[in-house]
Amino acid sequence: MCGLTTRHFFNILCDFGEPDEYISEFLRVHPTATICKKITDLIENRRSTRPLSIQLLGKDPQHLARIAEQLGNCAIHGINLNLGCPVPKIRKKGVGGSLLVDLNTVDSIISALLNSTNLPISVKTRIGYWHASEFDEILKHLSSHSISKLYLHRRTVRGLYEEQIDLGCIKLAKAELRCPVIANGDIKTASEALHIIEETGADGVMIGRAAISNPWIFRQICSLSHSSQAFIPSGSDYLDYIERLKNFTDGTGPSEHRMLSSMKKYAVPIADFVDKVGDFSCKIRRAETLREFHGACEKFFTAPDFNAFGSG
Ligand SMILES: Cc1cc2nc3c(=O)[nH]c(=O)nc-3n(C[C@H](O)[C@H](O)[C@H](O)COP(=O)(O)O)c2cc1C
Repeated sequence: MCGLTTRHFFNILCDFGEPDEYISEFLRVHPTATICKKITDLIENRRSTRPLSIQLLGKDPQHLARIAEQLGNCAIHGINLNLGCPVPKIRKKGVGGSLLVDLNTVDSIISALLNSTNLPISVKTRIGYWHASEFDEILKHLSSHSISKLYLHRRTVRGLYEEQIDLGCIKLAKAELRCPVIANGDIKTASEALHIIEETGADGVMIGRAAISNPWIFRQICSLSHSSQAFIPSGSDYLDYIERLKNFTDGTGPSEHRMLSSMKKYAVPIADFVDKVGDFSCKIRRAETLREFHGACEKFFTAPDFNAFGSG
């Protein structure tokens, strides 16, 4: 996830319980694009040895192929094409989710990527631009290519994050494609992840926001799938997580304001997840100094009635 799933965050997961594979935040590909520093840093300095795919966001087959060819020389395991980003600023550039209105260009992009490298090419998509009825046509186009995996966010592009989630589309994709299909969208707990796999026949789940608010979720899924007790983080586990997040910025010397806003990107979803009452979330959003921020964390996570699945 852009700005969140950095090399530092992935390194934290190495200690908390890793996913089976990683996909980077997107690398924006335009005519003069190169492999930017945050992507080379991730490739070269990550601790995990589990498979890593680099995600590309762009619309020009020639330039996407050029970057894919360069990535072919890097220590990665695949390339993922973004056909799902719904952010208006991105959509206006005709990339991400807006490519779903031009499936001939999608065909040209996938063909160019497949011809440019031996790395597996996977796709991350939504089920349509305007409407779920577009999904049949999208699948028809995708099934004509040898993509290695489909990661499916079960909403339309215009449905942003609000639309009702659709489970039937996973079954449809499983029936139409030869490659594994991975379900994505609103999976918040280990039991939800296992339920979706059982219900739809998906080959796995992709976790986005819940990995930020509960970075132990991959470990919990693994335990639950082996019928063992899932790990329940304590308040001090959360304080340790927040301390590790804070350490990202140490050494580079950002201002207090920058550090606080960088911490809030992670802490707001954490607070929304663990605090069902809302006081803590409110304090985190309003904190104007690191002292206020840490004071609120300290008070909430050391409270005797702290419960990782909803205090209050
Ligand atoms: C802040 C933010 C940044 C994101 N950045 C990316 C991205 O770079 N590439 C991508 O494919 N999806 C991105 N997404 C979408 C997520 O990968 C995921 O598809 C979506 O949030 C639904 O899954 P979830 O409910 O598990 O979060 C982003 C989402 C958020 C909230």
